[in-house]
Amino acid sequence: MANVKFHSGENIPLEMHKVRMVQRVHLLPIEERAEYIAAAGYNTFLLRNREIFLDMLTDSGVNAMSENQYASMLQADDSYAGSETYYRLEEVLQDMFNIQHFLPAHQGRACEHIIAKLLVKPGSTAIMNYHFTTTKAHICAVGGEIEEIIIDEGLEVSGDLDFKGNLDINKLKASIARLGKDKISFVRIEAGTNLVGGQPVSMQNMREVSKICRAEGITLVYDASLLSDNLYFIKTRDPEFKDTDILDITREIGSLMDIVYFSARKLGAARGGGILTGNHELFLQMREMIPLYEGFLTYGGMSVREMEAMAIGLRESLDMDIISQTPIFVEVLCNELLSKGVPVVTPPGGLGCHVDARRFCNHIPQEKYPAGALAAAFYLCSGVRGMERGTLSEQRNPDGSETLAHMELLRLAFPKRVFTLSQVKYVADRLTWLYENRELIGGLTFEEEPRVLRFFFGRLKPIGDWPQKLMQKFRADFGDSL
Ligand code: F0G
Repeated sequence: MANVKFHSGENIPLEMHKVRMVQRVHLLPIEERAEYIAAAGYNTFLLRNREIFLDMLTDSGVNAMSENQYASMLQADDSYAGSETYYRLEEVLQDMFNIQHFLPAHQGRACEHIIAKLLVKPGSTAIMNYHFTTTKAHICAVGGEIEEIIIDEGLEVSGDLDFKGNLDINKLKASIARLGKDKISFVRIEAGTNLVGGQPVSMQNMREVSKICRAEGITLVYDASLLSDNLYFIKTRDPEFKDTDILDITREIGSLMDIVYFSARKLGAARGGGILTGNHELFLQMREMIPLYEGFLTYGGMSVREMEAMAIGLRESLDMDIISQTPIFVEVLCNELLSKGVPVVTPPGGLGCHVDARRFCNHIPQEKYPAGALAAAFYLCSGVRGMERGTLSEQRNPDGSETLAHMELLRLAFPKRVFTLSQVKYVADRLTWLYENRELIGGLTFEEEPRVLRFFFGRLKPIGDWPQKLMQKFRADFGDSL
Protein backbone atom coordinates (compact mmCIF):
# COMPACT_ATOMS: atom_id res chain seq x y z
CA MET A 1 0.00 0.00 0.00
CA ALA A 2 1.26 3.46 -0.79
CA ASN A 3 1.99 5.52 2.29
CA VAL A 4 -1.17 7.66 2.42
CA LYS A 5 -2.30 9.12 5.74
CA PHE A 6 -5.93 10.15 6.18
CA HIS A 7 -6.60 13.48 7.91
CA SER A 8 -9.36 11.75 9.88
CA GLY A 9 -6.77 9.42 11.38
CA GLU A 10 -8.73 6.44 10.08
CA ASN A 11 -6.74 3.51 8.73
CA ILE A 12 -8.33 2.99 5.33
CA PRO A 13 -7.00 0.48 2.80
CA LEU A 14 -6.66 2.72 -0.24
CA GLU A 15 -6.73 0.81 -3.51
CA MET A 16 -3.83 1.38 -5.90
CA HIS A 17 -5.84 0.32 -8.92
CA LYS A 18 -9.12 1.22 -10.58
CA VAL A 19 -11.88 -1.06 -11.76
CA ARG A 20 -12.40 -1.22 -15.52
CA MET A 21 -14.55 -4.31 -15.90
CA VAL A 22 -17.20 -5.55 -13.51
CA GLN A 23 -19.37 -8.60 -12.98
CA ARG A 24 -22.93 -8.33 -11.72
CA VAL A 25 -23.58 -10.19 -8.48
CA HIS A 26 -26.95 -11.02 -6.96
CA LEU A 27 -28.09 -10.91 -3.37
CA LEU A 28 -31.09 -13.20 -3.08
CA PRO A 29 -33.69 -13.19 -0.28
CA ILE A 30 -32.83 -15.38 2.70
CA GLU A 31 -35.73 -17.74 1.96
CA GLU A 32 -34.12 -18.61 -1.39
CA ARG A 33 -30.70 -18.93 0.17
CA ALA A 34 -32.18 -21.40 2.67
CA GLU A 35 -33.36 -23.59 -0.21
CA TYR A 36 -30.02 -23.38 -1.99
CA ILE A 37 -27.88 -24.27 1.00
CA ALA A 38 -30.18 -27.21 1.78
CA ALA A 39 -29.91 -28.39 -1.85
CA ALA A 40 -26.11 -28.05 -1.54
CA GLY A 41 -26.08 -30.45 1.44
CA TYR A 42 -25.01 -27.55 3.71
CA ASN A 43 -21.65 -27.65 1.93
CA THR A 44 -20.65 -24.27 0.47
CA PHE A 45 -18.56 -26.04 -2.20
CA LEU A 46 -21.79 -27.32 -3.73
CA LEU A 47 -23.47 -23.92 -4.18
CA ARG A 48 -23.75 -22.44 -7.64
CA ASN A 49 -22.30 -19.02 -8.36
CA ARG A 50 -25.66 -17.53 -9.21
CA GLU A 51 -26.80 -18.32 -5.66
CA ILE A 52 -23.93 -16.35 -4.12
CA PHE A 53 -23.52 -12.64 -3.41
CA LEU A 54 -19.81 -12.39 -2.46
CA ASP A 55 -17.72 -15.43 -3.19
CA MET A 56 -15.07 -15.65 -0.48
CA LEU A 57 -14.61 -19.39 -0.86
CA THR A 58 -11.06 -19.00 -2.08
CA ASP A 59 -8.59 -16.80 -3.92
CA SER A 60 -7.67 -19.71 -6.15
CA GLY A 61 -8.00 -18.87 -9.85
CA VAL A 62 -10.40 -16.01 -9.10
CA ASN A 63 -8.06 -13.07 -8.58
CA ALA A 64 -8.62 -9.92 -10.64
CA MET A 65 -6.08 -9.86 -13.45
CA SER A 66 -4.33 -6.72 -14.59
CA GLU A 67 -4.68 -5.10 -18.02
CA ASN A 68 -1.13 -6.21 -18.78
CA GLN A 69 -2.01 -9.80 -17.95
CA TYR A 70 -4.99 -9.74 -20.34
CA ALA A 71 -2.92 -8.02 -23.03
CA SER A 72 -0.20 -10.64 -22.75
CA MET A 73 -2.69 -13.41 -23.52
CA LEU A 74 -2.89 -12.19 -27.11
CA GLN A 75 0.74 -13.01 -27.75
CA ALA A 76 0.45 -16.60 -26.53
CA ASP A 77 2.38 -18.92 -28.81
CA ASP A 78 0.17 -21.93 -29.44
CA SER A 79 2.39 -24.87 -30.17
CA TYR A 80 2.58 -28.30 -28.64
CA ALA A 81 6.36 -28.28 -28.35
CA GLY A 82 8.79 -25.39 -28.15
CA SER A 83 6.24 -22.63 -27.44
CA GLU A 84 7.85 -19.23 -27.02
CA THR A 85 5.34 -18.66 -24.21
CA TYR A 86 7.05 -21.39 -22.19
CA TYR A 87 10.45 -19.78 -22.63
CA ARG A 88 9.11 -16.38 -21.59
CA LEU A 89 7.60 -17.89 -18.44
CA GLU A 90 10.72 -19.91 -17.70
CA GLU A 91 12.85 -16.77 -17.93
CA VAL A 92 10.60 -14.87 -15.49
CA LEU A 93 10.74 -17.70 -12.96
CA GLN A 94 14.49 -18.24 -13.31
CA ASP A 95 15.05 -14.56 -12.75
CA MET A 96 12.59 -14.31 -9.86
CA PHE A 97 13.90 -17.23 -7.79
CA ASN A 98 17.36 -17.48 -9.35
CA ILE A 99 16.76 -21.20 -9.88
CA GLN A 100 17.76 -22.93 -13.09
CA HIS A 101 15.12 -25.50 -13.99
CA PHE A 102 11.37 -24.98 -14.41
CA LEU A 103 8.76 -27.68 -14.93
CA PRO A 104 5.19 -26.62 -15.75
CA ALA A 105 2.21 -28.41 -14.20
CA HIS A 106 -1.48 -27.67 -14.49
CA GLN A 107 -1.95 -26.55 -10.85
CA GLY A 108 -0.44 -26.76 -7.38
CA ARG A 109 -1.68 -30.24 -6.53
CA ALA A 110 -0.25 -31.56 -9.81
CA CYS A 111 3.17 -30.39 -8.57
CA GLU A 112 2.48 -32.14 -5.27
CA HIS A 113 1.56 -35.31 -7.13
CA ILE A 114 4.88 -35.32 -8.97
CA ILE A 115 6.98 -34.39 -5.93
CA ALA A 116 5.25 -37.04 -3.77
CA LYS A 117 5.66 -39.72 -6.44
CA LEU A 118 9.34 -38.93 -6.71
CA LEU A 119 10.33 -38.45 -3.09
CA VAL A 120 7.83 -40.30 -0.87
CA LYS A 121 8.53 -43.97 -0.22
CA PRO A 122 5.94 -46.09 1.66
CA GLY A 123 6.50 -45.68 5.39
CA SER A 124 8.48 -42.46 5.01
CA THR A 125 7.56 -39.17 6.65
CA ALA A 126 7.37 -35.69 5.21
CA ILE A 127 8.04 -33.06 7.87
CA MET A 128 6.41 -29.66 7.47
CA ASN A 129 5.24 -26.59 9.32
CA TYR A 130 1.66 -27.51 8.47
CA HIS A 131 -0.09 -29.59 5.82
CA PHE A 132 -2.39 -28.36 3.11
CA THR A 133 -5.28 -30.69 2.23
CA THR A 134 -4.02 -31.69 -1.23
CA THR A 135 -0.42 -31.97 -0.04
CA LYS A 136 -1.32 -34.46 2.66
CA ALA A 137 -3.63 -36.39 0.34
CA HIS A 138 -0.84 -36.85 -2.24
CA ILE A 139 1.73 -37.90 0.35
CA CYS A 140 -0.68 -40.38 1.94
CA ALA A 141 -1.77 -41.69 -1.47
CA VAL A 142 1.76 -43.03 -2.07
CA GLY A 143 2.06 -44.56 1.40
CA GLY A 144 3.79 -41.70 3.23
CA GLU A 145 2.96 -39.90 6.42
CA ILE A 146 3.26 -36.32 7.52
CA GLU A 147 4.58 -34.74 10.68
CA GLU A 148 3.77 -31.15 11.58
CA ILE A 149 6.33 -29.11 13.48
CA ILE A 150 4.90 -25.62 13.42
CA ILE A 151 5.81 -23.57 16.51
CA ASP A 152 3.29 -24.05 19.35
CA GLU A 153 2.02 -20.49 18.97
CA GLY A 154 1.09 -21.29 15.35
CA LEU A 155 -1.72 -23.51 16.61
CA GLU A 156 -3.12 -20.92 18.95
CA VAL A 157 -5.88 -18.84 17.45
CA SER A 158 -4.98 -15.61 19.22
CA GLY A 159 -1.47 -14.31 19.27
CA ASP A 160 0.81 -11.47 18.45
CA LEU A 161 3.82 -13.21 16.94
CA ASP A 162 4.80 -11.81 13.54
CA PHE A 163 5.68 -15.18 12.03
CA LYS A 164 3.30 -17.79 13.43
CA GLY A 165 3.93 -20.09 10.46
CA ASN A 166 7.54 -20.79 11.51
CA LEU A 167 8.84 -24.33 11.95
CA ASP A 168 9.99 -25.22 15.45
CA ILE A 169 13.72 -25.85 15.06
CA ASN A 170 13.93 -28.04 18.16
CA LYS A 171 11.04 -30.16 16.93
CA LEU A 172 12.77 -30.45 13.56
CA LYS A 173 16.00 -31.68 15.16
CA ALA A 174 14.06 -34.10 17.37
CA SER A 175 12.10 -35.50 14.39
CA ILE A 176 15.29 -36.03 12.41
CA ALA A 177 16.93 -37.76 15.38
CA ARG A 178 13.89 -39.97 16.00
CA LEU A 179 13.03 -40.90 12.42
CA GLY A 180 16.54 -40.96 10.94
CA LYS A 181 17.16 -39.01 7.78
CA ASP A 182 16.60 -42.03 5.50
CA LYS A 183 12.99 -42.26 6.67
CA ILE A 184 12.33 -38.60 5.89
CA SER A 185 11.06 -38.05 2.38
CA PHE A 186 11.52 -34.30 2.57
CA VAL A 187 11.03 -31.25 4.73
CA ARG A 188 8.41 -28.86 3.43
CA ILE A 189 7.95 -25.21 4.26
CA GLU A 190 4.57 -23.78 3.31
CA ALA A 191 4.61 -20.03 2.77
CA GLY A 192 1.66 -18.31 4.42
CA THR A 193 0.42 -21.50 6.11
CA ASN A 194 -3.04 -21.85 4.65
CA LEU A 195 -4.93 -24.02 7.13
CA VAL A 196 -3.88 -22.18 10.27
CA GLY A 197 -4.83 -18.69 9.24
CA GLY A 198 -2.47 -17.61 6.46
CA GLN A 199 0.41 -17.06 8.87
CA PRO A 200 3.83 -16.23 7.39
CA VAL A 201 7.26 -17.83 7.83
CA SER A 202 10.27 -15.65 8.58
CA MET A 203 13.46 -15.56 6.53
CA GLN A 204 15.49 -16.35 9.62
CA ASN A 205 13.46 -19.52 10.12
CA MET A 206 13.89 -20.57 6.49
CA ARG A 207 17.64 -19.99 6.78
CA GLU A 208 17.86 -22.19 9.87
CA VAL A 209 15.74 -24.98 8.39
CA SER A 210 17.75 -24.90 5.18
CA LYS A 211 21.03 -25.12 7.07
CA ILE A 212 19.87 -28.18 8.98
CA CYS A 213 18.50 -29.90 5.86
CA ARG A 214 21.71 -29.24 3.93
CA ALA A 215 23.85 -30.56 6.77
CA GLU A 216 21.70 -33.72 6.93
CA GLY A 217 21.27 -34.15 3.19
CA ILE A 218 17.46 -33.88 3.43
CA THR A 219 15.57 -32.39 0.48
CA LEU A 220 13.90 -29.09 1.32
CA VAL A 221 10.69 -28.31 -0.54
CA TYR A 222 9.02 -24.90 -0.54
CA ASP A 223 5.34 -24.45 -1.27
CA ALA A 224 5.27 -20.90 -2.65
CA SER A 225 1.53 -20.80 -3.41
CA LEU A 226 0.98 -18.09 -0.79
CA LEU A 227 4.33 -16.42 -1.37
CA SER A 228 3.06 -12.94 -2.21
CA ASP A 229 1.39 -12.47 1.20
CA ASN A 230 4.47 -13.93 2.89
CA LEU A 231 6.71 -11.50 1.00
CA TYR A 232 4.56 -8.61 2.16
CA PHE A 233 4.91 -9.74 5.79
CA ILE A 234 8.68 -10.27 5.53
CA LYS A 235 9.01 -6.77 4.13
CA THR A 236 6.70 -5.10 6.66
CA ARG A 237 7.32 -7.13 9.83
CA ASP A 238 11.03 -7.95 9.70
CA PRO A 239 13.24 -4.86 10.13
CA GLU A 240 16.09 -6.63 8.34
CA PHE A 241 14.14 -6.43 5.07
CA LYS A 242 12.57 -3.00 5.40
CA ASP A 243 14.72 -1.62 2.59
CA THR A 244 15.30 -4.84 0.67
CA ASP A 245 13.86 -5.26 -2.80
CA ILE A 246 11.07 -7.86 -3.00
CA LEU A 247 13.03 -9.48 -5.84
CA ASP A 248 16.07 -9.93 -3.60
CA ILE A 249 13.94 -11.41 -0.81
CA THR A 250 12.45 -13.87 -3.31
CA ARG A 251 15.88 -14.82 -4.63
CA GLU A 252 17.19 -15.45 -1.15
CA ILE A 253 14.24 -17.78 -0.50
CA GLY A 254 15.04 -19.55 -3.78
CA SER A 255 18.67 -20.00 -2.73
CA LEU A 256 17.62 -21.84 0.45
CA MET A 257 15.42 -24.48 -1.19
CA ASP A 258 15.99 -27.64 -3.24
CA ILE A 259 12.54 -27.57 -4.82
CA VAL A 260 10.07 -24.69 -5.06
CA TYR A 261 6.55 -25.33 -6.31
CA PHE A 262 3.46 -23.19 -6.50
CA SER A 263 -0.16 -22.95 -7.47
CA ALA A 264 -0.32 -20.17 -10.03
CA ARG A 265 -4.02 -19.97 -9.30
CA LYS A 266 -2.73 -17.99 -6.31
CA LEU A 267 0.85 -16.86 -6.98
CA GLY A 268 0.83 -15.05 -10.30
CA ALA A 269 -2.95 -14.53 -10.37
CA ALA A 270 -3.57 -16.83 -13.33
CA ARG A 271 -4.38 -20.54 -13.53
CA GLY A 272 -1.63 -23.14 -13.50
CA GLY A 273 1.38 -24.22 -11.51
CA GLY A 274 5.03 -25.07 -11.66
CA ILE A 275 8.06 -26.65 -10.04
CA LEU A 276 11.55 -25.19 -9.86
CA THR A 277 14.75 -26.88 -8.87
CA GLY A 278 18.43 -26.18 -9.12
CA ASN A 279 19.21 -29.88 -8.65
CA HIS A 280 19.82 -31.41 -12.09
CA GLU A 281 19.21 -34.97 -10.94
CA LEU A 282 15.83 -34.12 -9.38
CA PHE A 283 14.96 -32.10 -12.47
CA LEU A 284 15.60 -35.05 -14.81
CA GLN A 285 13.55 -37.40 -12.63
CA MET A 286 10.59 -35.03 -12.39
CA ARG A 287 10.82 -34.15 -16.07
CA GLU A 288 10.02 -37.77 -16.96
CA MET A 289 6.65 -37.43 -15.24
CA ILE A 290 5.54 -34.16 -16.85
CA PRO A 291 4.53 -35.62 -20.25
CA LEU A 292 2.97 -38.61 -18.50
CA TYR A 293 0.70 -36.72 -16.11
CA GLU A 294 0.57 -33.12 -17.31
CA GLY A 295 1.44 -32.57 -20.95
CA PHE A 296 4.51 -31.83 -23.01
CA LEU A 297 7.26 -29.96 -21.18
CA THR A 298 6.52 -26.64 -22.83
CA TYR A 299 2.93 -26.39 -21.61
CA GLY A 300 2.49 -28.93 -18.77
CA GLY A 301 -1.29 -29.14 -19.05
CA MET A 302 -1.82 -25.38 -19.08
CA SER A 303 -3.30 -23.09 -21.67
CA VAL A 304 -0.52 -20.97 -23.16
CA ARG A 305 -2.76 -17.92 -22.62
CA GLU A 306 -2.77 -18.57 -18.90
CA MET A 307 1.00 -19.06 -19.00
CA GLU A 308 1.47 -15.62 -20.55
CA ALA A 309 -0.80 -14.08 -17.90
CA MET A 310 1.11 -15.96 -15.23
CA ALA A 311 4.46 -14.61 -16.41
CA ILE A 312 3.15 -11.05 -16.06
CA GLY A 313 1.33 -11.84 -12.79
CA LEU A 314 4.53 -13.26 -11.30
CA ARG A 315 6.43 -10.10 -12.18
CA GLU A 316 3.61 -8.07 -10.63
CA SER A 317 3.87 -10.07 -7.43
CA LEU A 318 7.18 -8.31 -6.83
CA ASP A 319 5.36 -4.97 -6.54
CA MET A 320 4.44 -3.87 -3.02
CA ASP A 321 1.40 -1.88 -4.18
CA ILE A 322 0.01 -5.04 -5.70
CA ILE A 323 0.84 -7.60 -3.03
CA SER A 324 -0.28 -5.39 -0.16
CA GLN A 325 -3.92 -5.31 -1.27
CA THR A 326 -4.94 -8.65 0.21
CA PRO A 327 -3.20 -8.35 3.61
CA ILE A 328 -4.50 -4.85 4.23
CA PHE A 329 -8.08 -5.82 3.41
CA VAL A 330 -7.73 -8.90 5.64
CA GLU A 331 -6.50 -6.65 8.42
CA VAL A 332 -9.40 -4.23 8.03
CA LEU A 333 -11.99 -7.01 8.22
CA CYS A 334 -10.26 -8.72 11.14
CA ASN A 335 -9.98 -5.48 13.10
CA GLU A 336 -13.60 -4.57 12.44
CA LEU A 337 -14.72 -7.99 13.68
CA LEU A 338 -12.43 -7.91 16.71
CA SER A 339 -13.82 -4.53 17.67
CA LYS A 340 -17.25 -6.20 17.85
CA GLY A 341 -15.91 -9.13 19.86
CA VAL A 342 -16.08 -11.64 17.00
CA PRO A 343 -13.18 -14.11 17.42
CA VAL A 344 -10.72 -14.28 14.52
CA VAL A 345 -7.19 -15.57 14.06
CA THR A 346 -4.64 -13.00 15.15
CA PRO A 347 -2.48 -11.42 14.11
CA PRO A 348 -4.36 -11.03 10.81
CA GLY A 349 -2.54 -13.09 8.17
CA GLY A 350 -2.74 -13.39 4.42
CA LEU A 351 -5.30 -15.02 2.12
CA GLY A 352 -8.38 -14.16 4.12
CA CYS A 353 -9.99 -13.43 7.43
CA HIS A 354 -10.14 -16.60 9.52
CA VAL A 355 -13.03 -16.72 11.97
CA ASP A 356 -12.54 -18.93 15.01
CA ALA A 357 -15.53 -21.26 14.83
CA ARG A 358 -14.53 -23.03 18.02
CA ARG A 359 -15.17 -19.93 20.06
CA PHE A 360 -17.94 -18.61 17.80
CA CYS A 361 -19.87 -21.88 18.17
CA ASN A 362 -18.49 -23.14 21.46
CA HIS A 363 -21.73 -25.05 22.01
CA ILE A 364 -21.06 -27.30 18.98
CA PRO A 365 -18.59 -30.19 19.50
CA GLN A 366 -15.91 -30.72 16.86
CA GLU A 367 -17.54 -33.98 15.71
CA LYS A 368 -20.55 -31.90 14.68
CA TYR A 369 -18.41 -29.64 12.51
CA PRO A 370 -18.74 -26.17 14.05
CA ALA A 371 -16.78 -24.51 11.20
CA GLY A 372 -18.90 -26.24 8.55
CA ALA A 373 -22.06 -25.20 10.38
CA LEU A 374 -20.80 -21.63 10.65
CA ALA A 375 -20.00 -21.53 6.92
CA ALA A 376 -23.55 -22.72 6.11
CA ALA A 377 -25.12 -20.33 8.63
CA PHE A 378 -23.12 -17.39 7.32
CA TYR A 379 -24.16 -18.07 3.72
CA LEU A 380 -27.76 -18.30 4.92
CA CYS A 381 -27.73 -14.93 6.65
CA SER A 382 -25.53 -13.02 4.17
CA GLY A 383 -25.25 -14.73 0.79
CA VAL A 384 -21.47 -14.67 1.38
CA ARG A 385 -19.71 -17.92 0.66
CA GLY A 386 -16.77 -18.85 2.88
CA MET A 387 -14.98 -22.16 3.31
CA GLU A 388 -14.81 -24.55 6.23
CA ARG A 389 -11.24 -25.16 7.35
CA GLY A 390 -11.55 -27.52 10.27
CA THR A 391 -12.47 -31.11 11.07
CA LEU A 392 -14.63 -31.44 7.96
CA SER A 393 -11.52 -30.72 5.86
CA GLU A 394 -9.65 -33.55 7.58
CA GLN A 395 -9.65 -37.18 6.63
CA ARG A 396 -10.93 -39.93 8.92
CA ASN A 397 -8.34 -42.25 10.49
CA PRO A 398 -8.12 -45.80 9.09
CA ASP A 399 -10.25 -47.01 12.06
CA GLY A 400 -13.05 -44.61 11.10
CA SER A 401 -12.50 -42.14 13.92
CA GLU A 402 -12.38 -38.43 13.22
CA THR A 403 -9.12 -36.52 12.92
CA LEU A 404 -10.05 -33.50 15.00
CA ALA A 405 -8.53 -30.40 13.44
CA HIS A 406 -6.20 -28.17 15.47
CA MET A 407 -8.36 -25.21 14.53
CA GLU A 408 -11.98 -24.86 13.48
CA LEU A 409 -12.00 -21.97 11.05
CA LEU A 410 -14.40 -20.26 8.70
CA ARG A 411 -12.14 -18.80 6.05
CA LEU A 412 -13.36 -15.71 4.28
CA ALA A 413 -10.85 -15.47 1.45
CA PHE A 414 -9.99 -12.28 -0.35
CA PRO A 415 -9.45 -12.92 -4.03
CA LYS A 416 -6.88 -10.28 -4.98
CA ARG A 417 -8.35 -6.86 -5.84
CA VAL A 418 -11.91 -8.19 -6.24
CA PHE A 419 -13.97 -6.71 -3.37
CA THR A 420 -14.57 -3.12 -2.31
CA LEU A 421 -14.57 -1.64 1.16
CA SER A 422 -18.37 -1.38 1.34
CA GLN A 423 -18.61 -5.08 0.59
CA VAL A 424 -16.10 -5.77 3.35
CA LYS A 425 -18.25 -3.70 5.70
CA TYR A 426 -21.31 -5.75 4.72
CA VAL A 427 -19.42 -8.95 5.57
CA ALA A 428 -18.45 -7.56 8.98
CA ASP A 429 -22.01 -6.39 9.63
CA ARG A 430 -23.71 -9.71 8.86
CA LEU A 431 -21.06 -11.72 10.68
CA THR A 432 -21.46 -9.55 13.76
CA TRP A 433 -25.21 -10.12 13.63
CA LEU A 434 -24.63 -13.84 13.36
CA TYR A 435 -22.26 -13.71 16.31
CA GLU A 436 -24.92 -12.03 18.41
CA ASN A 437 -27.29 -14.85 17.43
CA ARG A 438 -24.73 -17.63 17.52
CA GLU A 439 -26.64 -19.81 19.97
CA LEU A 440 -29.17 -20.44 17.17
CA ILE A 441 -26.55 -22.24 15.04
CA GLY A 442 -26.55 -26.03 15.42
CA GLY A 443 -24.27 -28.81 14.25
CA LEU A 444 -24.14 -30.83 11.04
CA THR A 445 -23.92 -34.53 10.32
CA PHE A 446 -22.89 -36.33 7.12
CA GLU A 447 -25.50 -37.74 4.76
CA GLU A 448 -22.97 -38.67 2.10
CA GLU A 449 -19.30 -38.84 3.03
CA PRO A 450 -16.64 -39.34 0.35
CA ARG A 451 -13.50 -41.22 1.44
CA VAL A 452 -10.89 -38.77 0.09
CA LEU A 453 -11.03 -34.95 0.38
CA ARG A 454 -14.56 -35.31 1.70
CA PHE A 455 -15.11 -31.57 2.08
CA PHE A 456 -15.37 -31.09 -1.67
CA PHE A 457 -18.41 -33.27 -2.41
CA GLY A 458 -19.66 -34.34 1.02
CA ARG A 459 -23.35 -33.74 1.75
CA LEU A 460 -24.55 -32.93 5.26
CA LYS A 461 -27.75 -32.15 7.09
CA PRO A 462 -28.45 -29.90 10.07
CA ILE A 463 -28.97 -31.48 13.47
CA GLY A 464 -32.38 -30.05 14.35
CA ASP A 465 -34.21 -27.23 12.58
CA TRP A 466 -31.69 -24.48 13.34
CA PRO A 467 -31.58 -23.03 9.79
CA GLN A 468 -35.32 -22.24 10.04
CA LYS A 469 -34.89 -20.62 13.43
CA LEU A 470 -32.00 -18.52 12.16
CA MET A 471 -34.07 -17.42 9.19
CA GLN A 472 -36.98 -16.37 11.44
CA LYS A 473 -34.64 -14.33 13.61
CA PHE A 474 -33.13 -12.68 10.53
CA ARG A 475 -36.58 -11.63 9.32
CA ALA A 476 -37.50 -10.37 12.79
CA ASP A 477 -34.36 -8.22 12.95
CA PHE A 478 -33.94 -7.08 9.33
CA GLY A 479 -37.58 -6.83 8.19
CA ASP A 480 -37.80 -7.12 4.42
CA SER A 481 -34.11 -6.30 3.83
CA LEU A 482 -32.16 -8.63 1.59
N1 F0G B 1 -0.58 -25.46 -1.54
C1 F0G B 1 -1.24 -24.47 -0.92
C2 F0G B 1 -0.60 -23.76 0.22
C3 F0G B 1 -2.52 -24.10 -1.36
O1 F0G B 1 -3.15 -23.10 -0.74
C4 F0G B 1 -3.10 -24.78 -2.46
C5 F0G B 1 -4.45 -24.46 -2.90
C6 F0G B 1 -2.37 -25.81 -3.05
C7 F0G B 1 -1.11 -26.12 -2.57
C8 F0G B 1 -2.94 -26.59 -4.20
O2 F0G B 1 -2.96 -25.79 -5.34
O3 F0G B 1 -5.38 -25.61 -5.92
O4 F0G B 1 -3.61 -25.09 -7.60
O5 F0G B 1 -4.01 -27.43 -6.90
N2 F0G B 1 -5.27 -23.81 -2.22
C9 F0G B 1 -6.61 -23.44 -2.63
C10 F0G B 1 -7.35 -22.76 -1.51
C11 F0G B 1 -7.38 -24.52 -3.28
O6 F0G B 1 -8.54 -22.54 -1.68
O7 F0G B 1 -6.75 -22.40 -0.50
P1 F0G B 1 -4.06 -25.98 -6.49
